[in-house]
Amino acid sequence: MNGSSMKGRVAIVTGGARGIGDAIVRRFGEAGARVFAFDLIAPPEPRAEVRYVDADVSDRKSVEEAFETVEREAGAPDVLISNAGIQRVGLIGTLSFEDWSEVIGTHLNGLFLCASQAIPRMTAAGKGGAIIAMASTAAMVGMPGRGPYCAAKAGILGLIRAMALETASAGIRVNAVAPGYTRTKLVDDAIANGSLREEWMMERVPLGRLATPDEIAGAVAYLASDEAAYVTGQTLVIDGGWTVQGQSNAPGWLRGAAPARPR
Ligand SMILES: NC(=O)c1ccc[n+]([C@@H]2O[C@H](COP(=O)([O-])OP(=O)(O)OC[C@H]3O[C@@H](n4cnc5c(N)ncnc54)[C@H](O)[C@@H]3O)[C@@H](O)[C@H]2O)c1
Repeated sequence: MNGSSMKGRVAIVTGGARGIGDAIVRRFGEAGARVFAFDLIAPPEPRAEVRYVDADVSDRKSVEEAFETVEREAGAPDVLISNAGIQRVGLIGTLSFEDWSEVIGTHLNGLFLCASQAIPRMTAAGKGGAIIAMASTAAMVGMPGRGPYCAAKAGILGLIRAMALETASAGIRVNAVAPGYTRTKLVDDAIANGSLREEWMMERVPLGRLATPDEIAGAVAYLASDEAAYVTGQTLVIDGGWTVQGQSNAPGWLRGAAPARPR
């Protein structure tokens, strides 16, 4: 996205109060978009140019009211970023139905409810639009203890493909971003509760580090921009090579770390 391509566009970012959502909000604001951040919490570091709206993406009424606020203040949205997310850890068989429902409700119902509000408004406005859903590498691989999260994120990939087909004739593009481990409160909480460790995250990342929230926001900005005008129904994986890692234990000379192959 260059500075002018988002100028005057109305962008909604769910979960925009902190973490990856906050990085997206900042980028879009800098690119001249009119940004609405929907969140359950008040932003720890509010950004002056952003309109924060109290909203629970898992609640139909709350989502409707938040979209009505945007409509009243700025008209139809041009961009929806469905980013709000939570984590609940536990094995199937012991994990409660409430925890399961909360994760599915936030990620998958959240995308459904927000897209259900955005698509008719974008279509009626007749100027196309872009929807980007936050998936995860957990949509592509299994993560023990994170069944609802894996299911919700994989479900998001199915839903964006179907929506891409349903909305293409209205000029609306629908894509997903699938980040690998990114240092935010979500990850810090998992480290604190013992369900994640820094070395587990780093072990299989060929690029040898975690992502920054801004690197994820950069991919979202690309997909929202006119640079991605011919991209729809796709998932952009941003994981430092984690999901293509086949042999993290291969010797250094096979990974370019040693100058020459030993005899
Ligand atoms: N951090 C990572 O390593 C990572 C990796 C892959 C995908 N993701 C995804 O990126 C997204 C953002 O995660 P993050 O790491 O920035 O987490 P975070 O916890 O820092 O931020 C998530 C935000 O979503 C908000 N939120 C939660 N439930 C909500 C609801 N029902 N309604 C409205 N807002 C709600 C929270 O209040 C918070 O502001 C999530 O969808 C997450 O699954 C994160």
